[in-house]
Amino acid sequence: MRDWSHIATLQLLENWRRCGVGKIPRSSAEGVERACRWLEQVRLESGVESADLMGLVSSGPQSGMSVERSVTAAPPVVSLSKLAGIPQPSSPSIPPPASSHPETSSTAGNVPVAIPAKSPVAMPIIVGSSDEGRWTESSLDVGGRENRFKILAQDAAACRKCTEIVCSRKQTVFGVGPVNARLVMFGEAPGADEDRMGQPFVGAAGQLMDKILTASGLSRNEVYIMNSLKCRPPNNRTPTEIEVENCRPFFEAQLETIQPEYIICWGAVAVRAVLKTTESVGRLRGRFHQYKGAKVLVTYHPSYLLRNPDAKRLTWEDMKFLMKELGIPLPAPKKA
Ligand code: URA
Repeated sequence: MRDWSHIATLQLLENWRRCGVGKIPRSSAEGVERACRWLEQVRLESGVESADLMGLVSSGPQSGMSVERSVTAAPPVVSLSKLAGIPQPSSPSIPPPASSHPETSSTAGNVPVAIPAKSPVAMPIIVGSSDEGRWTESSLDVGGRENRFKILAQDAAACRKCTEIVCSRKQTVFGVGPVNARLVMFGEAPGADEDRMGQPFVGAAGQLMDKILTASGLSRNEVYIMNSLKCRPPNNRTPTEIEVENCRPFFEAQLETIQPEYIICWGAVAVRAVLKTTESVGRLRGRFHQYKGAKVLVTYHPSYLLRNPDAKRLTWEDMKFLMKELGIPLPAPKKA
């Protein structure tokens, strides 16, 4: 058996698993063997070269339409007849972002997403260095997203890559909120309260974030809240670059699953994780950047705001900028 075929099969199995298919025998030699034989046959029947086959297994429908992914949790299907050049009916169209965030859909235990449809007023977008302006994968329906999150959260809980952190963490803090949120709050890492409760942003910084959300006309349970790290670094120290990279597969899969329209990066660690830049928050705030299909706004971390209350004014400006783009009017200021 050829090497490429083995690697391609493993990637295919991994893709299925990430799409929420839980019953592929990932470690079963017999299953892998059978899938390898199947792929080899696809290659022989279709005449597609090994490199092309690798491409269609590892990338999304954009790469050449050889992989058809259902918008539900079904696994990607390699179309043999398409590979063999037999004309196909047109592929199912991928719903636009608005319909992938239906206002009526909700998640178990979560409230429906109430953020209204996008403002017609287009704001200037400065494309960042990070990505190409669209999501890599087709969007999943709510059930598919929840299935995928269950598996990802289990994988995160089983992760032992960051040896120092693993010894001190009480539990992993995966993320919370509707899986179809339009807006993601992206923070740094859990602190002591989050480590104890298993939820992001529930300590002092989280309470300030809640206040900022409320003042902006949003509520905590209509946004998805997550961190770059799923575990608390000892003594709340800043996560190392290696730790952020160890967690990258988790947070990138989370973002790819939610496919939010907007991400707020709270603080420099979040910025480094999402936009892959060490540029300061001060230089990056005040405009949109791009992470795949999402517009990214950068602002100060709530912990920084607690230590530097003067900077709250700047974060408030950032929120007003975002709310205008979202088309959500700010609540009237409370009378004294
Ligand atoms: N700070 C963060 O960045 N994330 C949390 O979850 C809590 C505090």
